Amino acid sequence: MTPSLLFVPFLFLLLIGGCLARPFYPLPSKLAYSDRQPLQTTRPYNIAHRGSNGEIPEETVAAYMRAIEEGADFIETDILSSKDGVLICFHDVTLDDTTDIANHTEFANRKRTYDVQGVNTTGFFVVDFTLVELKSLRVKQRYPFRDQQYNGEFSIITFEEYISIALDATRVVGIYPEIKNPVLINQHVKWADGKRFEDKFVDTLKKYGYKGSYMSEDWLKQPAFIQSFAPTSLIYVSNQTDLPKIFLIDDVTVPTQDTNQSYWEITSDKYLQFIRNYVVGIGPWKDTIVPVENNYLMTSTDLVAKAHAHDLQVHPYTYRNENMFLHFNFHQDPYAEYDYWINTIGVDGLFTDFTGSLHNFQEWTSPISKNESHASDLLHKIAVMVSAYGKL
Ligand SMILES: *[C@@H]1O[C@H](CO)[C@@H](O)[C@H](O)[C@H]1NC(C)=O
Ligand SMILES: *[C@@H]1O[C@H](CO)[C@@H](O)[C@H](O)[C@H]1NC(C)=O
Ligand SMILES: *[C@@H]1O[C@H](CO)[C@@H](O)[C@H](O)[C@H]1NC(C)=O
Ligand SMILES: *[C@@H]1O[C@H](CO)[C@@H](O)[C@H](O)[C@H]1NC(C)=O
Ligand SMILES: *[C@@H]1O[C@H](CO)[C@@H](O)[C@H](O)[C@H]1NC(C)=O
Repeated sequence: MTPSLLFVPFLFLLLIGGCLARPFYPLPSKLAYSDRQPLQTTRPYNIAHRGSNGEIPEETVAAYMRAIEEGADFIETDILSSKDGVLICFHDVTLDDTTDIANHTEFANRKRTYDVQGVNTTGFFVVDFTLVELKSLRVKQRYPFRDQQYNGEFSIITFEEYISIALDATRVVGIYPEIKNPVLINQHVKWADGKRFEDKFVDTLKKYGYKGSYMSEDWLKQPAFIQSFAPTSLIYVSNQTDLPKIFLIDDVTVPTQDTNQSYWEITSDKYLQFIRNYVVGIGPWKDTIVPVENNYLMTSTDLVAKAHAHDLQVHPYTYRNENMFLHFNFHQDPYAEYDYWINTIGVDGLFTDFTGSLHNFQEWTSPISKNESHASDLLHKIAVMVSAYGKL
């Protein structure tokens, strides 16, 4: 693979050597980057969906480091809770599809069936494992057609470890954590202090200094979006933090997991008018904005126009390079897909499995105008001048 992936074995050693439940990175407060390159805010956000999970198993340190290296504006994650109440980064409520749980015979008796949003689901549930047990597992790639070479190398990380990765980056990198399956988590996990999942989620953000409304000075220092499919959770946490929130919207057939509202109800003008009191934007599945038939795009709906009319941003998900995810209109070219969504539909952020591709597209089509107000830009300019001189 590319030389930039050489860091992976090193990270692996760190992970094995690292002490459980404690960030293996120096705490962010120990590091001062007074002159970090700021977050770009002039073009749609590059949101690294579960890190660069197109290349490296999702939501692992290596996937997030890769995304930062490739130019992510935000690294995205899903927050769930272990049995003993530690918030972790993991997408599925069960461990079956993306870890080596099947090979851990010591946990063979942990398989359960729970009602997850009205569907009886069977598997090894995250909420039935302590953090120490979860750390003994290793993560693997979700899709068989993606690179399998990192399977078994990386462990599940905590919310705090994820935050450390963003805060330790040498430029400003935002976080984009999801309050994931809050109904299920609050049913299965109880905290001694009587607090609920959403409280623990906000407490963690506050502990690391995340605060401030969208584009405020505090926010620009440590940018964060809070996302959830559960409107009740977003409204609940809006009392605790003014960090910007994004309301996620699923497929047209899926009702909201907490309020059981239909897609049509939550995308109505009336509802957008209501929810805009709590959120700065919506995060819809892209096929609901532009419906698809026989793998071709149909006429676009007015969802983006409606959202923008209510002053709501639109951050659709998920952009993926592989041909099985690209609609035929894009003739197998992920850049054509980005061009369409950014320049024809006009979205404000994109969740992508391939941050590097989106970054390259944006650098080529809308480079950020560089000026000398920033030390790193100046250094770059000097380096270019020096290398040009060397060639004379
Ligand atoms: C689980 O074990 C089987 C056989 O023992 C092995 O082939 C497979 O690679 C292992 N899977 C993981 C995810 O470690
Ligand atoms: C889930 O399983 C339980 C117990 O078998 C059953 O009573 C219930 O009806 C099932 N629920 C659904 C939604 O299938
Ligand atoms: C937010 O706080 C206000 C004032 O304390 C309270 O009346 C309201 O019920 C709270 N809202 C939520 C959603 O918790
Ligand atoms: C959710 O709403 C649908 C449609 O109105 C209804 O059929 C279903 O019973 C509701 N589910 C719950 C859990 O309330
Ligand atoms: C240079 O960048 C700074 C910070 O982004 C901005 O405030 C300023 O207006 C820019 N100056 C020019 C000449 O573009």
